[in-house]
Amino acid sequence: MIKACLFDLDGVIVDTAKYHFAAWKKMANALGFDFSEKENEQLKGVSRMGSINLILGWGGITLTEEEKIKWAAQKNDWYLEFLQQMDQKEILPGALAFVQDLQNKGYRIALGSASKNAVLALSKVEMLHFFEEIIDGTKTTKSKPDPQVFQMGAAALDCDPSECIVFEDAESGVTAANTGGFYSVGMGSPENLGHANLVLSSLENITIEEIIESVLQ
Ligand code: BG6
Ligand code: MG
Repeated sequence: MIKACLFDLDGVIVDTAKYHFAAWKKMANALGFDFSEKENEQLKGVSRMGSINLILGWGGITLTEEEKIKWAAQKNDWYLEFLQQMDQKEILPGALAFVQDLQNKGYRIALGSASKNAVLALSKVEMLHFFEEIIDGTKTTKSKPDPQVFQMGAAALDCDPSECIVFEDAESGVTAANTGGFYSVGMGSPENLGHANLVLSSLENITIEEIIESVLQ
């Protein structure tokens, strides 16, 4: 029986993936190189320091640990400038109604995100109150594809992974859910999320009952 839904944040609830991309691109450009949207896919679900290491690798650039920390902080400042301007318009199609419906029906709801800005982003779009538990980058020690973030979410809700559905837009996030014994819904394209139990392009025009029927089959 499904009791809970665990949501990734960036690219599932809010349209912030484009801001992470823009801010990292600005950093890469300042360092004299660029990277593609395809490469950016690999950054989804990856922690801030994990991301900078991948990006510098693509640019063939070596920095000291201290320089990396400085650039990661600069990227975060740029990202926060985008976040400050954010409002409810940045909620992804269908996400608000879907989460509201889950709450009305008594499902438990938690967040499982790598971001250290999760509480701020949810506050900006006025959705913080829906989440009973927030497991984010300030609490985890292992990055997706490790299932830790979702295991902590399930434990906080007192649920078994087999009673939870994870919603994820990152390939590594779907892998994390599957590895942890959760049902997984990939938000995006079957091209990179084909390993999810179900792939959706958005949370519009779909009910939790239809999702449960599909993932449990
Ligand atoms: C994930 C995003 O949710 O959070 C990544 O998919 C991002 O792109 C990561 O790097 C860490 O976010 P933050 O806000 O702590 O830099
Ligand atoms: Mg995401």
